[in-house]
Amino acid sequence: MLIEQEIFKKININAFQNDLIAWFKNEQRDLPWRKDQDPYKVWVSEIMLQQTRVDTVIPYFNRFIDWFPTIDDLAEADEDKVLKAWEGLGYYSRVRNLQSAVKEVREKYNGEVPSTPKEIAELKGVGPYTAGAILSIAYGIPEPAVDGNVMRVLSRILSIWEDIAKPSSRKVFEQAVRELISHEDPSSFNQALMELGALVCTPTSPSCLLCPVREHCHAFFEGVQNELPVKTKKTKTRDVQLTAAIITDTTGKFLIHKRPANGLLANLWEFPTVEIHHPMQIDREQIVTLFNKTLDLDIELEQIIGQIDHVFSHLVWNMKVYTGTITAKFQETNEWKLVSFEEMKEYAFPVPYQKMFKLYQSI
Ligand code: ADE
Repeated sequence: MLIEQEIFKKININAFQNDLIAWFKNEQRDLPWRKDQDPYKVWVSEIMLQQTRVDTVIPYFNRFIDWFPTIDDLAEADEDKVLKAWEGLGYYSRVRNLQSAVKEVREKYNGEVPSTPKEIAELKGVGPYTAGAILSIAYGIPEPAVDGNVMRVLSRILSIWEDIAKPSSRKVFEQAVRELISHEDPSSFNQALMELGALVCTPTSPSCLLCPVREHCHAFFEGVQNELPVKTKKTKTRDVQLTAAIITDTTGKFLIHKRPANGLLANLWEFPTVEIHHPMQIDREQIVTLFNKTLDLDIELEQIIGQIDHVFSHLVWNMKVYTGTITAKFQETNEWKLVSFEEMKEYAFPVPYQKMFKLYQSI
């Protein structure tokens, strides 16, 4: 569904742009990716900022740029080191795709991030939002960059009652941005919408009295800012029961395993883990057998040290944690390593396993 042109006639587009951009220039936060317009840095920051808050991203961004300052550095880096740089941020396919895409930029575009919507959108992991953000912020091209925050802001300003949880709604908001965007300063315009969403036009209790574009806002005029945006609840998460073990050998080294190259948390490292399908009916010996059958491990389990619960976007892990020991001679492979406490720091572990190791250290 498209927005009726009538809606745009009700808003003074020039005044709206000026008020929004003037506010942004005065009030914008001093963020490390705003120091220059290097398309690579803009790209890295926008990928990190998907699904992750600004405060969390800042130290990760700084370290990432320190480790991989240019496209060449990232293209040539070991995947293990790249995953380590992302450790704890979640949604790890973001960084695997980013590395594939910078390799492509190096081969196909001589290391220069392309500046046309078509070429940039073909890069792995670069969806319409990221494409628009790079094009506008790094190249000053008036393309929309619509994420959840921008949809929230515009749903209020234009009083748009589309369900923003529906994928098809993004197009409606892209159309709105195409009508409203400043052609003199698309970079500030798009970033100002993001900044307004972060600082003023927040999900709950928006600060309308401080809003620089309140005069242009239909939701404020109608008093419906708290009812917008319309966003249906996402589907429920699924529970997964797991048992994981911190297993040591006779020298005190820890047994770690590289996860498969596909699926959840691909290529990250974990402590040996099995899924338990009928947790009420299983005893310790059966769990040992399960480790043996599914992972080909000869181990003994010692004590239960606690439970870790971790929420992913679509599942929840309930992980019982044991300690244990290896009972047969162990041969290291690419996927199985015995590492010391110091060596473990070189490997990227998902957050639930970091929590698990902290628990182990606390006993
Ligand atoms: N959220 C998404 N992109 C952003 C940016 N460039 N600055 C601040 N917040 C953001």
